[in-house]
Amino acid sequence: MEKKILIVSASLRGRSNSELLAEEILAGAREAGKEAELLSLKEKDLRFCIGCLACQKTGKCVLRDDMGKMLDRVREADVLVLVTPIYYYGLPGQLKTFLDRCNPLYGGENRFRDVYLVTVAADDAESAPHRAEESLGGWIECFPQARLAGSLFCGGVNGPGEILARPEYPARARALGASL
Ligand SMILES: Cc1cc2nc3c(=O)[nH]c(=O)nc-3n(C[C@H](O)[C@H](O)[C@H](O)COP(=O)(O)O)c2cc1C
Repeated sequence: MEKKILIVSASLRGRSNSELLAEEILAGAREAGKEAELLSLKEKDLRFCIGCLACQKTGKCVLRDDMGKMLDRVREADVLVLVTPIYYYGLPGQLKTFLDRCNPLYGGENRFRDVYLVTVAADDAESAPHRAEESLGGWIECFPQARLAGSLFCGGVNGPGEILARPEYPARARALGASL
């Protein structure tokens, strides 16, 4: 069966570098004949996990917001690609919240295997995404069927849309999409 790829764009601002990269990954995947879709956290009603753990009994979250539909898309995916800005040398809160809200999947039979992390930061240092990778690594460790299959760091990019001035990054993102 054809693999399903879910690309999650975590930036909430307009013309975000993350979303531009996510669109390239989507285009690369589709050009290569893969089944892929893009999910943006922008303008979503996404509330914090309240830690009640009801989901561990019922498989469902007690919160009624946009995460229900987003979780269905995670459930259907074989490959997850998380595209995100670096905030304070870590994951931005909205992506961490999204990952926390995947808790109904914890301990279950899950389809996703390969997880990719694509990061954007103002800082160009190779170490800039390391803590974000560590944090995602902790999440992946809790899903034994999954692994961090690859990562792409786009450093030295700050303003909205600035990624377009560094065409090597969109090109790498497109190639990543084609390789999934
Ligand atoms: C709250 C906040 C924290 C940030 N922290 C960092 C940081 O620690 N290191 C860094 O290099 N860039 C940091 N940045 C810059 C963003 O990573 C950068 O602007 C990136 O291009 C944003 O991507 P986006 O357009 O996809 O939102 C921060 C930006 C914001 C808004």
